[in-house]
Amino acid sequence: MFLLCSVNNMDWGMKNRLSQLVQNDGKALFLPIDHGYFQGPTRKLEKPGKTAEPLLPYADALMLTRGVLRSAIDPSITKPVILRVSGGSTILGDDLSNEGIITSVKDAVRLNASAVSLSIFVSAKYEHQSLMSLSRLVDECEEYGIPVMAVTAVGKELEMREARFLALCSRVAAELGAKIVKTYYCKENFEKVVNGCPVPVVIAGGPKAESELEVFEWIYDALEKGAIGVNLGRNIWQHDHPVAMIKAVRGVIHENLKPNEAQQVFDQEKNR
Ligand code: 5RP
Repeated sequence: MFLLCSVNNMDWGMKNRLSQLVQNDGKALFLPIDHGYFQGPTRKLEKPGKTAEPLLPYADALMLTRGVLRSAIDPSITKPVILRVSGGSTILGDDLSNEGIITSVKDAVRLNASAVSLSIFVSAKYEHQSLMSLSRLVDECEEYGIPVMAVTAVGKELEMREARFLALCSRVAAELGAKIVKTYYCKENFEKVVNGCPVPVVIAGGPKAESELEVFEWIYDALEKGAIGVNLGRNIWQHDHPVAMIKAVRGVIHENLKPNEAQQVFDQEKNR
């Protein structure tokens, strides 16, 4: 079981929600389809319900906003939901870091969310505001036993994806009470990000990669260095073969496949 010491200190509801998200092997594959909350109808996510449907059987949880959940997702699904509760800015506005809380914890409870997620913008103009939002959200969610996943945002500055910065953001998020931290993978010293963060770390993918093998390699290396899994969106559902992609990613995470073995799974699945 992952991080047994901290889990033992938790109440039943918090433990139960976390164990829906993180599987018995201690690993997790979260599927985010929340991009529209600041990007609008992102490519291949124009109809988010249709995008998610064939992928859901292979995901451990679905991350999205309440608007898409209520309007596009069948309420009979049994997969846990990670509800994005921060937002309020768009790619057309002045500053993406100017986010606040957009959904109450009461509504998250009503929607039977297993966790909520919120972005923090370390080093950005609204850093303080986002960190205070995280702290307040954790205070409220602790009352109800709901885990908070902090999303360490890097905005458009992809060069900020380096270990020292990501380690700082991830540690700050954990210090303020996040139960899971979503950050980015970096090739150099990624272990410093995980080792400096006392709660489980999942990685996002960012814009679609050049090849699927590259994605399997990131994930494999991140897991080797201590990440528990992914919160991976565009590199799954923007791919021409999204089901083959998620099956192969699942193989790396839950079946310990090496990148070249995942590639074989992908090649077989894409021709089905
Ligand atoms: C958007 C998010 C996404 O959920 C996160 O970035 C993961 O998606 P991708 O793998 O497409 O980057 O938080 O703000």
